Amino acid sequence: MKKKLLPSIHHSSFIISHLLFILSILSIPVNCFAYEIIQSGSALRRFESRDHVNIVFLNSSGQLGGVENLLLDLCASLRAAEPAWRLHLIVPAAGPLVERARALDVEVTVLPFPHALARLGDAGAGGPAGRSTGRAVFARRALFAAPFTLLYARRLRSVLRSLNPEVIHTNGFKMHVLGSWTRAAHVPVVWHIHDYVGSRPLMARLLRLSARGCAVVVANSQSVAGDVRAALGRRVRVRSVYNAIDLKRFTPEGETVDLDALAGLPPPAHDVVRVGLVATLARWKGQRTFLEALSRVPVQLPVRGYVVGDALYQTDGSQYQLDELRRMAAELGISERVGFTGFVEDAAAAMRSLDVVVHASTEPEPFGLVIAEAMACGRAVIVSASGGAAEIFTDGADALGHTPGDADGLASRITQLASDPILRARLGRTARAAAELRFDRTRLAADWIPIYREVSDWKETNEGREASQREEKEEGVKIKDEMKAST
Ligand code: GLC
Repeated sequence: MKKKLLPSIHHSSFIISHLLFILSILSIPVNCFAYEIIQSGSALRRFESRDHVNIVFLNSSGQLGGVENLLLDLCASLRAAEPAWRLHLIVPAAGPLVERARALDVEVTVLPFPHALARLGDAGAGGPAGRSTGRAVFARRALFAAPFTLLYARRLRSVLRSLNPEVIHTNGFKMHVLGSWTRAAHVPVVWHIHDYVGSRPLMARLLRLSARGCAVVVANSQSVAGDVRAALGRRVRVRSVYNAIDLKRFTPEGETVDLDALAGLPPPAHDVVRVGLVATLARWKGQRTFLEALSRVPVQLPVRGYVVGDALYQTDGSQYQLDELRRMAAELGISERVGFTGFVEDAAAAMRSLDVVVHASTEPEPFGLVIAEAMACGRAVIVSASGGAAEIFTDGADALGHTPGDADGLASRITQLASDPILRARLGRTARAAAELRFDRTRLAADWIPIYREVSDWKETNEGREASQREEKEEGVKIKDEMKAST
């Protein structure tokens, strides 16, 4: 089949130019014109048989967040179930994900995003600064970034062509869009959607515009699947597959860490109940709610709180900085009662060092890996019960729920657990049992292999293509009008 960059570029230059414009908004990290490809693994091979499926994963980051941890668990599960499959990962920046993937015999290509677009991406992708930057600023940056985006797409397309995958699995909005527009015409793309689309209208529009190459959307919860259906309509087929974790790593017994030493606090009384929020310092993870709740827990209860985690990005308004949280604790009068450990690499050890793990997201949580991890560690967990998070626990049986952002409600849950060791132990036991049933990563291969096999037979019909082309044109006109209005 003849392969062209962005298949409809000659016919739909109008749409493409706007697509690129928006792509820039999404931020496609760029290292100016310089780029490098670091490839690991053996020489390129062709797989004739379906028993040797060749999957390329496109991931928007080289760092290790929830999406990346899940990707690693999926690769580990696929590796165990289908040792002969070729798994290849393309990331836009070096980072800890690269070595972890290679250790699972996943070949890795680092194809750096251009710098200007990377910056833009952070702002426009709904990422760290997504909600704090005006649309006019996005629009200007996007215009500047557009040519870099085009160059990046060209490079990505050529790498994809050399890898000759049967399926492309994308993580992150930038990669959903890039993957769809740079795939060869016969290669289906699976969008693995981990976050809500509906609250990001620009992103939703861009996805609608790119939906033609998407054979299926796999959402990480039913809540996210419903959101994707509402935002993208009938253009895409949507499934949900719950995340899973490594139950051998997240266990009730094992290494612990000295959270007090990490936080610079003196050793607490022997009967202290340790209650901690384990999360990045993104504001919506609810550190403020947690601190406010701690300040409302009766002082006579021997409770010590811990904020475990750090800001991943140092310069944006959507994350707390540790100093800001320390000041907040001082203002609430709880400086003695709460410690800030910073980032702890071994999340399982951090959770095992706590008696109660708090999840306090103030917005609906798409899934909430930390909830599954803490349950697997046999801890009493308090969950902010909204979104996908509300689907993965049974209130009162294997964890306790509270309403997002409700500091009083959270305080009463903490108080209840701090005063009742028997309840903590019971919740911990049932949580581990529930995690074994629901979150064992060996399930991932069983869930995903049929999806890969099914989409590898996916064909775009002429009718479908024409309908998509009409929709793309309409979307393109809307985008153009909106952009005009915002510049
Ligand atoms: C995103 C979601 C989080 C989920 C993770 C893995 O980070 O915000 O809820 O656990 O993806 O799917």
